[in-house]
Amino acid sequence: MSTTAGRFVTFEGIDGAGKSSHLEAVAERWRGQGLEVVRTREPGGTPLAESLRELVLHRSMDALTEALLIFAARRDHLQQCIEPALARGAVVLCDRYTDATFAYQGAGRGFDLAVLSALESWVQATAVGTRQPDLTLWFDLDPAVAAGRVAAARTPDRFEQQDEAFFRRVRDGYRTRAAAAPQRFARIDAAQPREQVAAQIVAMLQERGW
Ligand code: TYD
Repeated sequence: MSTTAGRFVTFEGIDGAGKSSHLEAVAERWRGQGLEVVRTREPGGTPLAESLRELVLHRSMDALTEALLIFAARRDHLQQCIEPALARGAVVLCDRYTDATFAYQGAGRGFDLAVLSALESWVQATAVGTRQPDLTLWFDLDPAVAAGRVAAARTPDRFEQQDEAFFRRVRDGYRTRAAAAPQRFARIDAAQPREQVAAQIVAMLQERGW
């Protein structure tokens, strides 16, 4: 589904791929063009969804509970934050969205993809179709390199504690989602130095006249 008024851009990739630091640069670029920019993240982005994020990242639970909490957070986030922002013509930059659910819960944990698809269409339903991003910047990186970056950076959450085999599956999950929606996805080679990653992003935006 294309955007009603604003523009919805998501940032995806395995932990340690470096997406979050580039999100701010895109925000600055578009603020400089006089656009209203809403920066947000998933799970999270509203008080209720941030509470659910705490549970999902730090409490153990079965796979269905995890998927339901993530989609519950997404529903609140869409209704309270994303849809109103797009309706008033803002640009929404979201750190992760449903592709992460297919990659982490689906490919990573092996959870039923048909259930995730059903939840996706229920939760993201709008009057004009299923809400999908206009563009997804996918920061693709070898899991061994990403693991080194995460280890150096912070105390790991429940997902960051997973082994390299898990992140190889997550990466494959992103690859599958990207192949299914080639117009929406832009693959960024996240192994390159920071300035070159930034240049790749600018090129992707310019390709779209943004
Ligand atoms: P992340 O976005 O990497 O934030 P931070 O930089 O603060 O660590 O962390 C969110 C974690 O949640 C990440 O490990 C992936 C996981 N996640 C899922 O498993 N499924 C989802 O649908 C989403 C949105 C995130």
